[in-house]
Amino acid sequence: MTAPAALPCLLLPGLLCDRALWAPQLEALGDRARFVVPELWHDDSMAGMAECALRSLPDGPFAVAGLSMGGYVALEILRRVPARVRGLALLDTQARPDVPEVRQRRLDLLELSARARSLAPVQRRMYPLLVHADRLGDAALAATVDGMAERVGLQGYVRQQRAILERPDSRPGLSSIRCTTLVLCGRDDQITPVAVHEEIAQAIPGARLEVIEHCGHLATLECPEAVNSALARWLETLGAPH
Ligand code: MLT
Repeated sequence: MTAPAALPCLLLPGLLCDRALWAPQLEALGDRARFVVPELWHDDSMAGMAECALRSLPDGPFAVAGLSMGGYVALEILRRVPARVRGLALLDTQARPDVPEVRQRRLDLLELSARARSLAPVQRRMYPLLVHADRLGDAALAATVDGMAERVGLQGYVRQQRAILERPDSRPGLSSIRCTTLVLCGRDDQITPVAVHEEIAQAIPGARLEVIEHCGHLATLECPEAVNSALARWLETLGAPH
């Protein structure tokens, strides 16, 4: 059984990302749901990003998948309109707020980008953390990541980091999530490691955890076939009662 063709499904990109993050899924799964990819760089709060995403949807039920920062926004959407969310997919993300070292790294990166008036030094510093070490030489992947950052731009990056810095701790709400939930991550995700996904999957009743081998933080681009299979299975279950 496939999800009703009309079911809208938000695909929420991460920091410095746009719809190109989800290009392999849009191409392979386009007939499984009505995908909507909002631009999440015009607001500087999770609330603003969630409202922006909700404005892009028709009334009624929908599914939501978010990667990393997109997952933070997905959890904000769950807080705002839980009854409308039929399915939740959290990819390479976390429910926790930043530990002090990560918060400091964000502030340092913001200062670096402001001094350079450019995202280039941020990209140089962050890229080795974003993808699996074996993909560091993949020029096409690097070009995709650079292209997304260019489209989001420096001001968009600043707004996104402000929103991320102020995001709430989402852990207290996890046990009341009632929709069909997939939690997925790369085995070698250095930014949001497997353990934080185990924590989410254990807290959400009935959540399914999938760990993709030989994969870093940008699972949708790094391992599109494995992600597509997991999302296809998730979408198939959304038509069923749960
Ligand atoms: C992302 O990919 O969205 C970021 O790594 C999220 C973050 O910095 O917390």
